[in-house]
Amino acid sequence: MLNEKVAELLNTQINKEFYSAYLYLAFANYFSEEGLDGFANWYQIQAQEERDHALLFIQYMQNNDARVTYEAIDKPEFSAEQHMDVLEAGLKHERYVTGLINTIYGAAYEVKDFRTMQFLDWFVKEQGEEETNASDLIKKMKLFGTDPKSLYLLDQEMAARTYAAPSLVL
Ligand code: FEO
Repeated sequence: MLNEKVAELLNTQINKEFYSAYLYLAFANYFSEEGLDGFANWYQIQAQEERDHALLFIQYMQNNDARVTYEAIDKPEFSAEQHMDVLEAGLKHERYVTGLINTIYGAAYEVKDFRTMQFLDWFVKEQGEEETNASDLIKKMKLFGTDPKSLYLLDQEMAARTYAAPSLVL
């Protein structure tokens, strides 16, 4: 039986993960319209990963007989006057999500919910990776984004990303 507050935070996280997927689909749209299909591919895959995260939270709650409820998903909001704005919005968003995961972890810790803490360990690591990826993209865009030939090559690198199912199995 999950603690009420922990269950509520887990349930909210489902919505946040779906929102993340929605936001990254919007990023993919932006890059697709800009003719950068590699970047669009990268964010499409990122959106798939976010959907996977949402499904993992659902599965975890169901495995623990907690009631799952779905709320409306917010409209993805970001302004992009240049490519870098999108990448920076991505990093900001991942930092925000890390904070959310830490808050759930803290609530689980308070009530000695070791099972939830162990479940969240995977997400703590995943958030570290996602923040690193987002910040690496910013560095690459700073280095190569202003030269069209380099940007073309960077876009090709982004096109090479392929989807992999999450390593966490519940
Ligand atoms: Fe589900 Fe990008 O964190």
